[in-house]
Amino acid sequence: MTLDPYKIREDFPILKRRINGNPLIYFDNAATSQKPRQVIEAIVDFYENHNANVHRAVHTLSQEASELYEDAHEEVAKFINAKGIEETVFVRGTTEAINLVAYSWGRRNLKRGDEVLVSLMEHHSNIVPWEIISGIRGSKVKYVEVDDDGALNYNALEDLISSKTRIVCISHVSNVTGIVNDIKRVAKTAHDYDALILVDGAQSVPHMPIDASDLDVDFLAFSGHKMLAPTGIGVLYGKRELLEQMEPFQGGGEMIREVNFDRKAKSCSIVWNSLPWKFEAGTPHISGGVGLMEAARYLKRVGMDRVKKHEEMLTGYAMRRMRECCKSIRIFGPEDPSAKCGIIPFGVEGLSSHDVALFLDNYGILVRSGYHCAQPLHERLQLSSSARASFYIYNTLEEVDRFTEVLKETEQL
Ligand code: ALA
Repeated sequence: MTLDPYKIREDFPILKRRINGNPLIYFDNAATSQKPRQVIEAIVDFYENHNANVHRAVHTLSQEASELYEDAHEEVAKFINAKGIEETVFVRGTTEAINLVAYSWGRRNLKRGDEVLVSLMEHHSNIVPWEIISGIRGSKVKYVEVDDDGALNYNALEDLISSKTRIVCISHVSNVTGIVNDIKRVAKTAHDYDALILVDGAQSVPHMPIDASDLDVDFLAFSGHKMLAPTGIGVLYGKRELLEQMEPFQGGGEMIREVNFDRKAKSCSIVWNSLPWKFEAGTPHISGGVGLMEAARYLKRVGMDRVKKHEEMLTGYAMRRMRECCKSIRIFGPEDPSAKCGIIPFGVEGLSSHDVALFLDNYGILVRSGYHCAQPLHERLQLSSSARASFYIYNTLEEVDRFTEVLKETEQL
């Protein structure tokens, strides 16, 4: 059975809003999703009834808050089929998760002569941390080519990888083209060379069933706010044995078990906390974790297979309608919608991407425009920028129809 977006919409208060006098059509889901009242209520309930710091006090509220925060890790671990909460570190978002690996793993394991492979389709957050840590450690970042439609060139990956490669960093789904990479294939290629694989799952985990264990990835980074949860909470999945070996990213409370001051040596010896807390220094985003737990439960009830099918259906329909509606529209990326997941980058001849987005906004239709934090990919595709429509569970065919009707009006400009 397919999902019913009209029933789902009833859970999202913001979708009742009007923008410039028009019903809101929210097609900027790749940037952030809207939040259902179940998530909003879970956060309110936390602050109204359970708020306290976690893992610090013996009192009732601290016990309740700790239990909720640990349950949130359990729920997320189940959502991506991690082997347990030891493999699910809560962070601020995808960017922080990747930085955690770059600094914590990279600082200890990268050295002069080593190589980090990154694809040209990456979001800046899967490029910049690797350039920074390589600048410190003397390793080199090498870029895997993409084809003219933005698809990963697997031959280029196989040509570039070598015994010098220590880690392959790749997005599961491109935030610009929506192209879905064959992660199992990339993981096998990386592991054949004893390299690790880090996957940016920001645009995949919210939109399709994900089994991190089956994908055999070493690290998987994703954000809560793109999957119905609040901003400021995200996840780093890591294989337990790797996380065990890694040193903490940041120091502070929560991530230590003991700090013993040796009076003679006048220094402290420190014992790290167990996983995942070793990587969660300071007071964590507890209510964010609670919101993420509720979001994962919500998506589980909807069914991730149905989420994926719904978006595939909307993407295929939208691409067809956009091509039919006017000649001046160009869709970037692959022609075949089945290679993609819920994201359509496009342009209108004679208009900048910001002009297109502002024109649509006048009609209550919200899309993103610009580089989408992926300038190297835009340069490779010879685009100065793009407008981008991206879908989620509450979007409908009627909204796509309205979107294409309005796009057609750009011909009159
Ligand atoms: N990474 C987000 C996007 O692609 C913000 O829009």
